[in-house]
Amino acid sequence: MRYIMSIGGKRLRPVMCLLACNIFKDKIDEAVMPAVGIEVFHNFTLIHDDIIDRADMRRGSPTVHSKWGPDQAILSGDVMAFVAVECIGQAPEKALLKALRLFNRTAIEVCTGQQLDLDYEKKGVVSETEYLRMIELKTAVLVAASLKMGAIIGDAQEKDQDLLYEFGRCLGIAFQIQDDVLDTYGDTKMFGKKTGSDIVANKKTYLLVKAIELAGGNKLSRLRKLLGDGNDDPAEKVRAVKEIYDELDIRLQAENLAYDYFNRSFQALDQVSVNGERKNELKQLAVNLIGRVK
Ligand code: IPE
Ligand code: IPE
Ligand code: MG
Ligand code: MG
Ligand code: MG
Repeated sequence: MRYIMSIGGKRLRPVMCLLACNIFKDKIDEAVMPAVGIEVFHNFTLIHDDIIDRADMRRGSPTVHSKWGPDQAILSGDVMAFVAVECIGQAPEKALLKALRLFNRTAIEVCTGQQLDLDYEKKGVVSETEYLRMIELKTAVLVAASLKMGAIIGDAQEKDQDLLYEFGRCLGIAFQIQDDVLDTYGDTKMFGKKTGSDIVANKKTYLLVKAIELAGGNKLSRLRKLLGDGNDDPAEKVRAVKEIYDELDIRLQAENLAYDYFNRSFQALDQVSVNGERKNELKQLAVNLIGRVK
């Protein structure tokens, strides 16, 4: 547990929780432990995700299961899920029930999204709508809940809590589309994760969903063959799938969709009923994510 928490990470979700609280209140102490809880929960999902995805590198370091084995990684993750509840449970009395309910519902949704991610590896055709729902669950709802948690503790009106949730939901969707792009086109050193792993695992990323949709005739049969069993050269598979993506200009389409969701997120933030200046930090954080490389 100490290891995964100490090897880095952007700390995006706790920062968002604190900034969301700060929109409504100058004093943000009460949001600190819930923000920590969200980050601990996120790190738990990463440990288990890396077992599921058979990933041996994260944040530029070996993953927990590759250092200590899957059994210990599963248990460390389990404990972190409960440590997270302990932290959320330190929300102020007034916000406690709402905070715990939000957290719990979100945790269930994240696991559901992770299961869909797995189901879709085996599913021949996944629609864009199915893909978007899957990433909403596995990634976006936690970003959304982080912001809403801050708003709840900041005593925001219900309408503003929901607008911040929507801001985070759209931002989280954009963020996961970018993650898909970076898994194929990123720089392993900057990204901190081994690139090409989604292609090797037949993950239905936005890139693959779109490529299957747009490829016809010869391209589609080449792609289908690459996704089939009996591929014993992963590097060649990654190269050949990327070639098809490039022929179809898939990267640009993914970046455009991410951009649409960034715009939608800003529209939601704009509607939050506080002075525009109070939203600057949060807005800047989101703007900085647009061209992210890690
Ligand atoms: C990784 O999240 C998992 C995804 C939802 C793509 P982050 O990119 O926020 O990971 P860290 O915490 O910064 O390492
Ligand atoms: C992230 O999906 C979702 C969760 C960790 C819940 P990925 O499998 O794409 O995340 P990375 O790329 O391994 O960080
Ligand atoms: Mg993964
Ligand atoms: Mg995964
Ligand atoms: Mg990924």
